[in-house]
Amino acid sequence: MIEPIRLLSRAEREACLERAGLNLFRLDAEEVYIDLLTDSGTGAISSGQQSAMMAGDESYAGARSFRRLEHTVREVFGLEHVLPMHQGRAAERVLNFVLVKPHQLVPGNAHFDTTKAHIEYARGRCLDLTIAEGHSPTARHPFKGNLDVPRLRTVFEEYGSAAVAYVLVTVTCNSGGGQPVSLANLREVAAVCREAGVPLFYDAARFAENAWFIKTREPGQADRSVAEIVQDMFSLVDGFTMSSKKDAISPMGGLLVVRDSGLFERLKMPTILFEGYVTYGGMSGLMMESLAVGLREVLDEAYLAHRIGQVAELADVLVRRGKVPIVEPVGGHAVFLDGRRFFPAVPEDQFPAQLLCVELYREGGVRTVEVGANLAGRDPDTGENLRPAMDLCRLAIPRRVYNREHFEYVAEVVAEVRERRASLDRGLRFSYEAPGIRHFDSRFEVII
Ligand code: F0G
Repeated sequence: MIEPIRLLSRAEREACLERAGLNLFRLDAEEVYIDLLTDSGTGAISSGQQSAMMAGDESYAGARSFRRLEHTVREVFGLEHVLPMHQGRAAERVLNFVLVKPHQLVPGNAHFDTTKAHIEYARGRCLDLTIAEGHSPTARHPFKGNLDVPRLRTVFEEYGSAAVAYVLVTVTCNSGGGQPVSLANLREVAAVCREAGVPLFYDAARFAENAWFIKTREPGQADRSVAEIVQDMFSLVDGFTMSSKKDAISPMGGLLVVRDSGLFERLKMPTILFEGYVTYGGMSGLMMESLAVGLREVLDEAYLAHRIGQVAELADVLVRRGKVPIVEPVGGHAVFLDGRRFFPAVPEDQFPAQLLCVELYREGGVRTVEVGANLAGRDPDTGENLRPAMDLCRLAIPRRVYNREHFEYVAEVVAEVRERRASLDRGLRFSYEAPGIRHFDSRFEVII
């Protein structure tokens, strides 16, 4: 799809920011010049997807489009039971409704915010067991999304298997900077789970990007195809949730897929209750067609090389032009700017990364998102603000949308803000803190 974009004047952008309460989710898309808010549902549809969508079968039960999707999922991932969902968080809702009992733990690697909220909604608790390097923006490690396996063992020893509902590995790890998990680590985690008799799940939104990093960064994997690596990764799990708006390159959609037929039976009731009948869940026939095609297109290695190459290219131009502090090595779907190092004069509890998001929009109409103290929210038990290890501004790259010229412009905008960082020493505070997930609707003011 080709879409027109328009750069508002500085005065108009100032007015938009004011109206939005310095929260970029509250801007209209037409007010944005380059939209790097998310890579979710923002990829361009291919001609293959468009034509498949024309053949969408909207039958309520047993639609042809569902069977095509089911067949594709079985072939690509090797798991049997497929439930279509309207997006990732719907799959999380259904899964946690069934698997999590009050006070049970779900260890993982920096759970995504909706995932964490759903686990807590089911009265469970998340344990972040990401390796230490994953909490540092500068530590060099090819797989900063890896789980700390000795700590996982300790969890089972200390609390016992019954205290753990399941283990969840997010591939790639979004909250940690789009960082991949190695196949070796996945194998180790799977072995520990098997020993403990606890199910292992993936949050598989960016599964293909993770497989690409395994191919290009992990010793001994270079000669294998991404499709083979995906098969290997998924042979280790009992099931997965997926937001299909990312690597499946669909505007909408999600999946909940499991190996065990007994668990599948238990998941049917909440699927029907929260989503829809089991052969469409939350999706239309045409979206299931788009998703089925997207799942194959994303395995194209020329596409993946270009995609991951684009992210690296943006990072490269940012660092070269503006000496901008970023999370390194660069991950899959986004470049993450380090808010604390970008604005060293702004105290950590005054949302430096959110301030950076605001300034990038003010400077050049570029929309990004904060992945830091605002997103982290409050401790569900104490109500205290959580202090994440990193306070980041994410420049997410929509799939098959922007090109080098757009990135040159973004880099220029970032460099401009970086140049006037000395004058930006005042942080932000809430003028309204939205309850629960506060990221989307809270408003801020500059501390004077
Ligand atoms: N898991 C991960 C790792 C995600 O990144 C997301 C969404 C979800 C689950 C939830 O999926 O949006 O389809 O309900 N991430 C988007 C983002 C919103 O911008 O990173 P959803």
